[in-house]
Amino acid sequence: MSVQPVGAPAPVDQVLELACRAPSVHNTQPWTWRVSGSRVDLFADFRRQLVYADPGRRDLLVSCGAALHHLQVAAAGLGWAARVRRCPDPGDERHVASVQLRPARPHAEALAQLDALTARRTDRRRLTSWPVPQERLNALAATGSVWGAQVLPVVDPSMRGHLERLTRHADRVQRRNERYLSELAAWTAPSPAQGVPSALRPVRDPSEGPEPGNVADLAARRFPSGTLADPEVDPEPPADGMLLVCTSSDDTISRVRAGEALSAVWLHATREGLSLVPLSQAMEVEETRRSLQGDVLGDLACPQMLVRVGWLPLSRPDLPPTPRRPLSEVRTVV
Ligand SMILES: Cc1cc2nc3c(=O)[nH]c(=O)nc-3n(C[C@H](O)[C@H](O)[C@H](O)COP(=O)(O)O)c2cc1C
Repeated sequence: MSVQPVGAPAPVDQVLELACRAPSVHNTQPWTWRVSGSRVDLFADFRRQLVYADPGRRDLLVSCGAALHHLQVAAAGLGWAARVRRCPDPGDERHVASVQLRPARPHAEALAQLDALTARRTDRRRLTSWPVPQERLNALAATGSVWGAQVLPVVDPSMRGHLERLTRHADRVQRRNERYLSELAAWTAPSPAQGVPSALRPVRDPSEGPEPGNVADLAARRFPSGTLADPEVDPEPPADGMLLVCTSSDDTISRVRAGEALSAVWLHATREGLSLVPLSQAMEVEETRRSLQGDVLGDLACPQMLVRVGWLPLSRPDLPPTPRRPLSEVRTVV
């Protein structure tokens, strides 16, 4: 799609097209938009909840938060300033945000963010062994924290090991549920508009055991094997950094803010050439989420999202964008 950021503000539909490029759990795109002139309201679409993977609707609301952040980035890059009210209607928990747009000249930073928005992908291919320096992790964390969440770099090896074990345990718990597996199959079936396509799922040998210490491998394993090949395999074990996105409470607005923070960190990582993949399973299973909150965070914060970040081989081919539903399905004009 062509983006024309100069002159008069772009049509609101163009802003929404870009907002819909936001990441969402299993690419469910659980949102709808209501447009009235230059006012845009964002609603969570509970009909698109992953009932078995995400029984508490955390991922759904985090996805809506990511869409809200994408909306703000798209608006700024296309000539609009956005005033956002989060969860404006206490009587309607689906009403995620009300956004008033007004014309404003885009600045250079807004245009760079817009480029990152269109370039961002979930890339689950194997990372290289180049470590992510701690200063980079700290800078990513600081970006997320501006959006009202706490983003913690996980650098202690025993802590990393613990988070990895919790993710594997959550995966085992989920896979014991036939209905979870059917839901996963439905969202990985071929579709022109939603779900996680085979072309974006790494090819893997199901008999391979997990590589110790490699969280990257956990990202590839959530989904059935696909057709995405690794162009070049580093003989050394992959290295990656981890970040934990947390909030001070666990209500709707906190989850929305966690999604905005996730999106902000992801765009920052994209601009740095780093690949980011969310690992949400430990938050989806109540037993592992409680352990994460109590044993790891000492009940001082609520975990919302774990992500791994790392470097992919420079020689990798770019990935195509994951499909999205047409705007006409998710936007009403009133
Ligand atoms: C709340 C949330 C949870 C996610 N959980 C995972 C996950 O556990 N594993 C994974 O590989 N991708 C995960 N993703 C990434 C989505 O699968 C991805 O955003 C979606 O397929 C759309 O692809 P795109 O990000 O390339 O546009 C998650 C994304 C969000 C927003």
